[in-house]
Amino acid sequence: MYLGPTFVKLGQVVASSPGIFPNWLTQPARRCLDEAPPFDSELVRATVEQDLGVRIEDAFISFEDIPLSAASIGQVHGCVLNDGRDAVVKVQRPGLRDQMTMDLKVLYLVARVANKTKWGRSANPMGMVSDVSQLTARELNPVIEAWNQQRFRDHLWSYGDNTMITVPEVYWDYCGPSTICMERVSGIPMDHFEEIRARGLDGELVLRRGAKAWAEAVMVHGPFHGDMHAGNIWVLDDGRGCFLDFGIMGELTPEWRQVMRDIYYTCVFDRDFTRVATAYRSVGVFPPELGTDEEIGAAMAMIVEPMLVMGMASVNLGELITSSVTLMKDFGGTPPQELMLVGKQLLYIERYVRELAPDYAIITDPFIVKNIFPEAAKELAAKENVTYPE
Ligand SMILES: Nc1ncnc2c1ncn2[C@@H]1O[C@H](COP(=O)(O)OP(=O)(O)O)[C@@H](O)[C@H]1O
Ligand SMILES: [Mg+2]
Repeated sequence: MYLGPTFVKLGQVVASSPGIFPNWLTQPARRCLDEAPPFDSELVRATVEQDLGVRIEDAFISFEDIPLSAASIGQVHGCVLNDGRDAVVKVQRPGLRDQMTMDLKVLYLVARVANKTKWGRSANPMGMVSDVSQLTARELNPVIEAWNQQRFRDHLWSYGDNTMITVPEVYWDYCGPSTICMERVSGIPMDHFEEIRARGLDGELVLRRGAKAWAEAVMVHGPFHGDMHAGNIWVLDDGRGCFLDFGIMGELTPEWRQVMRDIYYTCVFDRDFTRVATAYRSVGVFPPELGTDEEIGAAMAMIVEPMLVMGMASVNLGELITSSVTLMKDFGGTPPQELMLVGKQLLYIERYVRELAPDYAIITDPFIVKNIFPEAAKELAAKENVTYPE
């Protein structure tokens, strides 16, 4: 079944509104929405030619008409640039924006009607349509996507390590309003668990490296990958991990990045939850009358500490974050939507951990924070006999 791309976006908004729609509905809906018939290769060529202002023959030595992948939003074609570099172009479906404008008008009318029902008054469908419009403007823009890819890549190696993680280089000379051209990589998606094992690749190692790079983006650099399903996270033939698809990104404010660092530090190193309470208060997630930081910290410790002591492997971080967002809302706070996105990525990471490295306790691995808290991580690594991989 193929519905318009607007409905894919609507699915995303629905999926990030916990408690309004059940998971069993949102998960399969997305998958079926993403399967679109490919568009004609003539149309792909015409779009690329118009974008680049040159003929395909002049810009490329070769151009594959059969797409490597096709989705409702666009498709990816392999090619070889005229200087010999192996590349792909990710081309947005022509007319996509016009179609989405039409879809949004329809959705808006539906939302206006729904708003008058009992369900509508609590679920706020008008707000959802407005969210979809904003997401559309931001996420369905190949120029912004390419820019996000470039930024994530630039930050990736800023500490001088993460050499076994990569992001395809953007070839800006071959990009246009609907076209992203980038380095071609070769590998398999992260959830091809059998094949990863069959190839003799160390899944746990790829995971540790990837999680570290991603955690640095969330807690330090800012722009982080917000769509880490297995199709977008690859293990390359040479063993490197690779992030693909920067269509959905999140970015916490500097204050919230500090909150994340405080939470991480507390859970891993000293369990002083007063720090977490102070951090939360500084971003205004609970009202002043709730109690002192010490009181709230003690309450948090009571809930979280047993989980930490019981063995970190059993702590479901993604669940912890997504449910704490709901909790904050109950307290009348205003946690950023971004936090939900962080939680969802952690759920993906945890799924890969379960399959590839069931005994790996990601939250206490000092390697993850070796750049963020170098001294404390070094001490813990020495105590626990953990060595840092490349
Ligand atoms: N740089 C690349 N090298 C090789 N294959 C790629 C590259 N980028 C994308 N692909 C292929 O295209 C698929 C879809 O790319 P992606 O950026 O995730 O697009 P979408 O936004 O449609 O999900 C990937 O899963 C992969 O198979
Ligand atoms: Mg993708």
